[in-house]
Amino acid sequence: MPDTEKTQGRWLHTECLPADHEGIIKAARVLTDGGLVAFPTETVYGLGGNALNPAAIAAIFNAKGRPADNPLIAHVLNAQEAARYGEWNALAQTLAEAFWPGPLTLIVPRKSGVPAAVSAGLDSLALRAPSHPAARALIAACGFPLAAPSANRSGSPSPTTARHVLSDLDGRIPLILDGGASEVGLESTVVDATGDLPLILRPGAVTPEMIAMVVGECRIADSVMRQLKDYEVAPSPGMRHQHYAPHAHLTLVDGSPEDQRKALLKLAAGRENTWVLALDGLMREGDAVSLQPLGKDAHAAAHRLFYLLRRADEEGVEALFAQTLPRDGLGLAVMNRMVRAAGFDILDAKSVLNDEPQEER
Ligand code: TXA
Ligand code: MG
Repeated sequence: MPDTEKTQGRWLHTECLPADHEGIIKAARVLTDGGLVAFPTETVYGLGGNALNPAAIAAIFNAKGRPADNPLIAHVLNAQEAARYGEWNALAQTLAEAFWPGPLTLIVPRKSGVPAAVSAGLDSLALRAPSHPAARALIAACGFPLAAPSANRSGSPSPTTARHVLSDLDGRIPLILDGGASEVGLESTVVDATGDLPLILRPGAVTPEMIAMVVGECRIADSVMRQLKDYEVAPSPGMRHQHYAPHAHLTLVDGSPEDQRKALLKLAAGRENTWVLALDGLMREGDAVSLQPLGKDAHAAAHRLFYLLRRADEEGVEALFAQTLPRDGLGLAVMNRMVRAAGFDILDAKSVLNDEPQEER
């Protein structure tokens, strides 16, 4: 029996192939037949299906367990292709010229030939031209746009390796292309480009500063760093849903580096199954905590964050304490994911040190 054979809506095994020429040809065949394939991109792994085939789109939602109101990104090769599926305007063109191919998703009005199911019924469509060579080769081999959310089960951290995809989706999809660890490690920047000025709905490796350099101004949706109230309409449906949640409880500690270090020590020292996540240089040798380094800066932290959250779960870690990062550049994207993984649980380091009760922040 071929190992991609389906039984009662499930596959016995999910095949994992290198993302080389042969793998890509096979993947394109599965996708052309309406099937799903997980593939590497420079941000995180995507779970691809034919964006023009409503049955494939339904299968993506089903395999991920994704809430029906959360729209998908259509992946294309370039702006010319994007303009076939979305109403392309001057702002989208300028941003695509500056940042495509790369970790930027542009939201524009959806053209009528694209199934509404891709956008979960919205009039808009999210489009991205990834830079990863395997993702590009796959899109080219298919000849149709690939709808692809991150290739995780809904609610868990986005996958940055083929192994992460397998651990979430084994038996739910026929094929994974393995292209090694994702370079960025966080999902793309999502920008609403339907107006005259860009509005960031989800921060990523294309930073607000980079966008402002190109178009003069860049707004950031205020829901990027705070929790939406029940009655608020989410500018991007993904903001409302539970995200990036590890089983271990994550608590963030805000403050000056020295206060952060002391507060992390106070919170974590002597506790079992507890990890401290910190940038290089924050903690000192001899500090009695189980330290998991985030790396030297926000770039390194972006690359490692989801990997560390998944490893914490694999190793049965119960509590995670992490320092906050400065919220500029790529730090904004890292913090956007960290505050959600922490369920917005952020402590002020000084208050921890003074044993003060914590305010809701
Ligand atoms: O880097 C990425 O963007 C990865 C790789 C695979 O390309 N994909 C990814 O997709 O992260 P996903 O589905 O996990 O996240 C897409 C985000 C969601 O928060 C969704 O709500 C938002 O984009 N989005 C998609 N279409 C939208 C639309 N028409 N309007 C507003 N938000 C939209
Ligand atoms: Mg996702």
